[in-house]
Order: sequence, then C-alpha cells, then structure tokens
Amino acid sequence: MKLLRALFALAASTSLCSAQSTAGIEALVRRRLPQHENSFKFAITSSSTSTAAFNITDRPNDEYEVCNGGNGTIQISANTPIALAYGLRYYLNTYLNVDIYWFIGSQLYLAPQELPRMNSTYKGSSVVPWRYHFNTVTFSYTAAFWTWEDWELQLDWMALHGINLPLAWVGYEKILVDVLLEYGFTHENIASFLSGPAFQAWNRFGNIQGSWGGELPMDWINSQFALQKKIVARMVELGMTPVLPSFTGFVPMQIGNIYSDAAFVNGSQWNDFQPRYTNVTFLEPFDPLFAKMQKSFIQKQTEAYGSVSHIYTLDQYNENDPYSGDLDYLRNVTKNTIQALKGADPDAVWMLQGWLFYSAEDFWTDERVEAYLGGVDDSDMIILDLFSESEPQWQRTNSYYGKPWIWCELHDYGGNMGLYGQVENVTINPIEALSNRTSTMIGMGLTMEGQEGNQIIYDILLDQAWSQTPLDSEVYFRAWAESRYHTKPLPQGVYAAWDTLRQTVYNNTDIPIADAVTKSIFELSPNTTGLLNVTGHHPTTIMYDPQILVDAWSDFYSASSDQPELWDNSAYTFDLTDITRQVLANAFYPLYKAFVAAANRSLDSYSHDTALQTGSQMTDLLLDLDTVLSASDSPHFNLAPWIASARAWASPSTNTTRNTSPTADKADFYEYNARDQITLWGPDGEISDYASKQWGGLIRSYYVPRWRMFVEYTLNSTTAVDGENEGLSDALFRFGEGWQQERWGESFGESYAEAMPGDLQRVIAEVVERRPGVFGS
Ligand SMILES: *[C@@H]1O[C@H](CO)[C@@H](O)[C@H](O)[C@H]1NC(C)=O
Ligand SMILES: *[C@@H]1O[C@H](CO)[C@@H](O)[C@H](O)[C@H]1NC(C)=O
Ligand SMILES: *[C@@H]1O[C@H](CO)[C@@H](O)[C@H](O)[C@H]1NC(C)=O
Ligand SMILES: *[C@@H]1O[C@H](CO)[C@@H](O)[C@H](O)[C@H]1NC(C)=O
Ligand SMILES: *[C@@H]1O[C@H](CO)[C@@H](O)[C@H](O)[C@H]1NC(C)=O
Ligand SMILES: *[C@@H]1O[C@H](CO)[C@@H](O)[C@H](O)[C@H]1NC(C)=O
Ligand SMILES: *[C@@H]1O[C@H](CO)[C@@H](O)[C@H](O)[C@H]1NC(C)=O
Ligand SMILES: *[C@@H]1O[C@H](CO)[C@@H](O)[C@H](O)[C@H]1NC(C)=O
Ligand SMILES: *[C@@H]1O[C@H](CO)[C@@H](O)[C@H](O)[C@H]1NC(C)=O
Ligand SMILES: *[C@@H]1O[C@H](CO)[C@@H](O)[C@H](O)[C@H]1NC(C)=O
Ligand SMILES: *[C@@H]1O[C@H](CO)[C@@H](O)[C@H](O)[C@H]1NC(C)=O
Ligand SMILES: *[C@@H]1O[C@H](CO)[C@@H](O)[C@H](O)[C@H]1NC(C)=O
Repeated sequence: MKLLRALFALAASTSLCSAQSTAGIEALVRRRLPQHENSFKFAITSSSTSTAAFNITDRPNDEYEVCNGGNGTIQISANTPIALAYGLRYYLNTYLNVDIYWFIGSQLYLAPQELPRMNSTYKGSSVVPWRYHFNTVTFSYTAAFWTWEDWELQLDWMALHGINLPLAWVGYEKILVDVLLEYGFTHENIASFLSGPAFQAWNRFGNIQGSWGGELPMDWINSQFALQKKIVARMVELGMTPVLPSFTGFVPMQIGNIYSDAAFVNGSQWNDFQPRYTNVTFLEPFDPLFAKMQKSFIQKQTEAYGSVSHIYTLDQYNENDPYSGDLDYLRNVTKNTIQALKGADPDAVWMLQGWLFYSAEDFWTDERVEAYLGGVDDSDMIILDLFSESEPQWQRTNSYYGKPWIWCELHDYGGNMGLYGQVENVTINPIEALSNRTSTMIGMGLTMEGQEGNQIIYDILLDQAWSQTPLDSEVYFRAWAESRYHTKPLPQGVYAAWDTLRQTVYNNTDIPIADAVTKSIFELSPNTTGLLNVTGHHPTTIMYDPQILVDAWSDFYSASSDQPELWDNSAYTFDLTDITRQVLANAFYPLYKAFVAAANRSLDSYSHDTALQTGSQMTDLLLDLDTVLSASDSPHFNLAPWIASARAWASPSTNTTRNTSPTADKADFYEYNARDQITLWGPDGEISDYASKQWGGLIRSYYVPRWRMFVEYTLNSTTAVDGENEGLSDALFRFGEGWQQERWGESFGESYAEAMPGDLQRVIAEVVERRPGVFGS
C-alpha cells in the first residue's frame, strides 16, 4: 500500500508523457461512467511504452494492479494505458457486474453510485504483449457505414478488452487518390478503379476493381478520411498502436499508358467476376516506381494522422496468386516491398494476413512460403495466423520460419448469423501454442470477417490473453452471464441455458464438418439438392441435437417468468431473440426435407397435397421468424437500420468539390451497395448469399418470395429431381436483381404480423403458442 501511494505520488509529479497516458482512460470514464468521473485514480507505473513499443518482439507484457484508494476511490496502476483499461474492466466485471458489448452497447452506466471496496488488491498481467483486432474485410461487412458514434463505442469496447493493436483501414482511399493524382493518373482512371462503399475491402486486397451501379463519390472518400482522423487519434489516446495502410501496388489499369516501361501484372481472377471488375493491375515492388509511390503514400499519411505507428498492413496475394511461383521471384517481391516501406519509414514493420497460406495452400508450398517470407528480416514482419482455431498454419510453416505471429480467431465468415463456437480451441490451443518453445507467437486476436453474434466466444479469447492457463469455461460462462444481465445471482434457467450452450452449441469439435459459424439453408438459393450437409466455412450442418437448443431456449425463456424484469433488460431480450431465431431457423430443416420428399415424383413418398402443405408451412415459419426479429428493439436483427445507415452517408454533404451526382442518387447508390452485399454480392450474383443475414424485413422481402417461387416451380415441374430447373434459376435471379433496385420507403415485401420494436414479449408468446411442435420438449 505504501509503495503504491509512493507510485501515485511519483506519477502525479512526473513527466507530461505519463499524464498523457492516463488521459485516454480518464476520458473513457467520463464518456461511459460520468457519475464516477472522480471515483477511479489511474497511474502509469513505468515509462516503458514510448520507444520500446516499436520493437515488436521486445515489448513487455502488460501489467496492472487494482486496489482500494483513499476517500472511497479505486486505484488502478499499470505499465501501459491499455492495461489500465483492462484493469478497470476487471473491477467493473468482478465487483459491479457491468460490461460493454457489441450491439447492446455500454452498460457501465448501471454501476452503483456507491462503489464497493475491494476485498483485496488484485494484480493481473497479459501473457502476450499484443492483442489484435479486425480483419480487412470487417471494415466492409460490419463497419462499412459506421458513424463516429459507432466507432466510439467500438474503440471503448476494444480498450476495455485489452486490444492494443487494431487495424485502421478507414479513409485509405483519400491518401491513395492523392498519390495516384500526383503520379499522373486522372480522375477517370481512378474512378474506374475504386469500388463501392460496401466493397472497398476487396478493392484494397486487389481482388476487385471498379464499382457496379455507380461510381464511388469523392464525397464518400472525403468524409471517410475525416472519420479516420478521429479514429486514429482516439486509438492513440487510448494507448493503442494502429496498424495503418500502405501503398499496396494495386493501381488503375491505365498505368501502362502513363509509364510505358512500368513492370506490372494483371493477376487476379476473383471468383466469377468478369475481367472489368477483377484482373486488377499490380505494380511489381521491384519497379522503382513502387518505392516512390510508397514513400509518397506514407508521407501523406503521416502528415494526416501524425507519426503514430510504424506497423503497416500490406497484402499482395490475398486470394490472388502470385504471377510466378519461382522462389527467387517470391523472395524478390518481399525484399523490395520491405525496402520500399523502410525507404518511407525506417522503422516500418510489415503486417501480413496469413490467410493466403491456407486459402491457396496448393500454391503456397512450404518452400514458397519460406522463400516469400525469406525476403524480410524477422523483426520487420508480423504474420496474422488468421484462422488459428480451425486451420492454424503456424505449425506447418515452422512458426513462419521465425517471423513473429499472432494467434487469431476468425470464427465468422461474411457476418453470417448462427449460434456457434469452439470453446475448447479458443482457450486450450492459444496457450499450447504459446508454451511451445519454438513458437514465435507474440499475440492473440480476433479476425472475424463480420462482427456478429456469439460474443462470448470472442470475449473468452481476449480474456485468455491474460491467463497463463486455459480458462475454465464453466466458471467463465457463469460470470459472463452475470455481467451481461447485470444480475447476481441470476434465475437458474439463465445459468442452465448458458451451460447447455457451452457444452453443445459452443463446443463444436468436428472441425472438418463445420469450422465456422453456421448458416441456415433458408438463406441459400432454394433448390431440391445441395443445401443440406454443407461443410466448411459456411456450413449448413447443425452440429448439435436441435432438441438440446430447444431445451436451452426453454430454460432461458422461462427465466422471465421467475423474473419478469428481464423483459426490460436489453441484454436478455437481445439474447432471447437470438436463441429464438436459431430455434426457428433449425425448424425449417424438417419442413424442407418433408417438402423435397413429397415433391419428388420418382419417390414413393411423392404426394402433391403433402408438398403443397409443407411448402406453405416453410414460408409461414419464415414469416414467424421475420415477425420475431422485427419485434426486437435491437437494430442488429433488422434490415432497415442497415439500409438507413448506408443512406445516411449521402446526407452530411461535407465536400461537394467533385460531387458528380445529386444527393438522392448518392443515397440510392449507397442503398444499392448495402443491398447487394448481403444478397447477390456482385453485379451478377458472383458470390450470391455469401454474406446472407437473418434479419427482419430481409426474410419477408427476399427469402420468402424465393421459397414461394421454389415451391410453385417445383410443384409444376415434371422433371426437377436433380435440382436442374432453368425456369426457376432464371426467375430467382431476376427476382434477386429486382430486389437490388428497390429503395427505402418502397415495400419491404408484404407486411405480415405488423410487429413493431417493443412487441417482443407478445410476439414470442404468440409464436410459441402457435408452434408447440417447434418449442415443445
Ligand atoms: C528487438 O528486440 C529483439 C529482442 O530483444 C532484438 O533481438 C532485436 O534486435 C530488436 N530489434 C530491433 C530492430 O531493435
Ligand atoms: C473526499 O471526497 C469528498 C467528497 O467527494 C471531497 O469533498 C474531499 O475533498 C475528498 N478528499 C480528498 C482528500 O480527496
Ligand atoms: C468479497 O468478499 C465478500 C464477503 O466475503 C464476498 O461475498 C465476495 O464474493 C467477495 N468478492 C470478490 C470479488 O471476491
Ligand atoms: C486484364 O487487364 C489488362 C490490362 O488492362 C488487359 O490487357 C487484359 O486484356 C485484361 N484481361 C482480360 C481477360 O480482359
Ligand atoms: C528483382 O527482379 C528484378 C526484375 O527481374 C531485377 O531487376 C532485380 O534485380 C531483382 N532484385 C532483386 C533484389 O533480386
Ligand atoms: C479443437 O479442439 C478439439 C477438442 O475439443 C480437438 O480435437 C481439435 O484437434 C482442435 N482443433 C484444432 C485445429 O486444434
Ligand atoms: C511447436 O512449434 C513448431 C513450430 O515452431 C511446430 O512445428 C510444432 O508442431 C509445434 N508443436 C506442437 C505440439 O504444436
Ligand atoms: C467438448 O466436447 C469434447 C468432445 O466431446 C469433450 O471432451 C469436452 O469435455 C467438451 N467440452 C465442453 C466445454 O463441454
Ligand atoms: C446429410 O447427413 C445426414 C447425416 O449424416 C444423412 O442422413 C443425410 O442423408 C445427408 N443428406 C444429404 C442430402 O446429403
Ligand atoms: C474536398 O475535396 C477536395 C478534393 O479532393 C479536397 O482538396 C478538399 O480538401 C476537400 N475539403 C474538405 C473540407 O474535405
Ligand atoms: C404452375 O402451374 C399453374 C397451373 O398450370 C400455372 O397457373 C402457373 O403459372 C405455373 N407456375 C409457374 C411458376 O410455372
Ligand atoms: C440447384 O443446384 C444444382 C447443383 O448445384 C444446380 O445445377 C441447379 O441449377 C440448381 N437449381 C436451381 C433452380 O438453381
């Protein structure tokens, strides 16, 4: 205690640097816990952070101490600002049962006026120096239309969860455009290169170029840039090291007209996109122009955001195989890439998403990986082992041949919605990897494509980064639920439900069958074949006995009879909506199977009447699901807020310098982007339904009509037993195209039960009563 007081005294009197270091967490407390502005005292106990931070392999773990201070305060001291934030969350969770969440938001305001004293001083420390967050594509699947307010919540969530290494892609295009203009590209060249607001991630990866349905307005670029300035400043204020963009080498196709001797290749053929939208031009890093453009890029970026980080994200071959597999070529590429980065920033460290070594495993043989990584010194690179919980690559690559790497949980593709988790793999595996004496692991992190549900499975990994031994999931789930619903003790049903989920839904161990979040067959284009038993990243296989989920639902739901106040608890109603959603989605399967069996003329089970009946049962079920989701208070379960958030970016017209289209057209273009991403994904359905969602409004207006068409065509057809049905395929595609063109305010499909936000309790009770077969035991 004496020592601590001395430390506080010291901190109070020392440099500006320390004072600044606590400013971020103090501001966070003012934002989220204004009534406790003076209740917490923060101090940084060493000045180790400032210079050492940029030697990625030589950073100490984060440490914090929380104890009772004088005059009723709680004192938190730590060696880094992020450890202060994590230490604060320890107290908030453990003593106050409050936390901050995706979608539900910050519940820290629920903290009592009188803060409880601690029983004893608590000390904690991280087991890895770096905790990372984001996938390049999260910026499109989840954050495409985020406002500053959304970002503020996200960044506070990240700080309190101990993240100190976040990716920061927003606003990239502004710097890139300025570099391209400087190097002689025209506005027209640039416009033919940049992709729409919902598709920027894949343009940044060099998978796609150009924009369908309209050009990316300069307005968008400028307002995203303004947003990024705030994001980066806040990250730094909170004590994070942002991973900033760099010049990737992907340029407009006209480069050959400007630089006739430039060395470039047109590599990509991404999915089924036609060449005008893929076939992206890549300036070879050994061309001297690459280094010049890199220098210009980094200079402009540093001017814009300050000298706040030396870590740069740069992916040249993400789902884009190199032009040659020759080992010297591969080594040459990386050698010149890092030289160019160092030419722009002598302390530069290159961060690479390791996805390529898994997704293009056939190309990336061990010797090619070694050659490619071999062009860079070990201390100049960080690899994200992107999908560590299911498809780790660090073992086969011999710990990336010595490069430091981060153990990352991917878990969700395309922001798909399904209850799913691998609770053993995200607790046991990272600790095993860390204790492997030859591993060069330096961090843990999250690389989900979409930040969606199942938050407990992400929280547990971030908390695992502060525990030497695998967390006990039984203890963890109980405590998590108490904070989530801010109630201790909870009704038994809530504990029972989470414990059941933990051992089943969240304990998938059959990774070959399902290695990530499941989707429901109803989100896929209707077909008599090919929908069931899909394995891999978008599995449709239900990995647990569906009745077990119904039992968990029943426990969870009946807790609200014991404690009716739960209906006023936004976390409870959110989770109840989510679990009910999954129960109804699972109930679609038997109906579908019954329909297919009854509609197939070549089977004994053929019965036109049964098919007709089960056909309408399928769509009725989906309409019930839509009604439940529409009744949720949370925007997270609905289409309308997604579209509204896209359209909203057309209004605050911050810059009209190159405003080629009036505001209404712009809003329509943003809406088209928002709709296309979650449905056809591409002008012609190139990766249709990849980023499908189970949202109120979307089910009613998109999936239900598709299934109605399917039922009608299948019943009319005399032949379709193998899925081939050209009339249906055409009709489905035309319907999908038409839906893209609908606009906000026009019909979202037929209205059904007229559910409104706030009706959840009534709507669920009605649906349960109507469907004893689905919700019964
Ligand atoms: C970073 O730290 C490591 C471990 O102490 C050391 O081996 C390496 O030389 C340092 N790198 C730089 C660039 O200072
Ligand atoms: C203790 O708290 C009270 C009430 O907030 C305040 O008036 C007083 O100045 C504080 N004393 C010290 C020593 O901080
Ligand atoms: C603090 O002590 C009280 C009384 O023994 C106990 O009920 C409580 O669980 C303890 N809290 C923590 C966080 O250890
Ligand atoms: C790819 O782009 C290059 C450069 O614009 C062009 O020469 C080539 O024809 C394109 N490939 C295809 C298949 O269109
Ligand atoms: C890389 O390849 C280019 C083109 O073949 C060649 O001019 C250059 O010397 C090579 N650089 C290195 C470092 O191998
Ligand atoms: C995930 O954990 C299960 C045990 O729960 C284990 O069988 C499996 O090998 C692990 N998968 C990976 C990729 O480590
Ligand atoms: C330990 O790490 C090495 C690579 O550094 C890897 O080849 C080996 O498989 C790892 N061992 C285990 C048990 O994972
Ligand atoms: C997960 O399943 C595996 C294999 O059935 C089992 O050994 C393990 O105990 C389960 N873990 C949990 C948390 O239920
Ligand atoms: C899906 O898997 C189940 C269980 O293994 C099997 O009974 C069923 O025939 C499979 N269905 C299809 C359409 O492959
Ligand atoms: C508006 O856009 C122009 C052209 O890109 C740029 O020069 C200017 O700085 C922007 N103004 C604002 C306020 O963003
Ligand atoms: C199905 O057959 C009925 C009766 O012949 C016809 O009215 C309807 O248009 C057909 N529907 C489709 C989609 O072919
Ligand atoms: C159903 O799937 C099969 C196999 O993928 C495909 O050939 C067929 O065109 C699909 N049918 C429809 C109506 O889309």
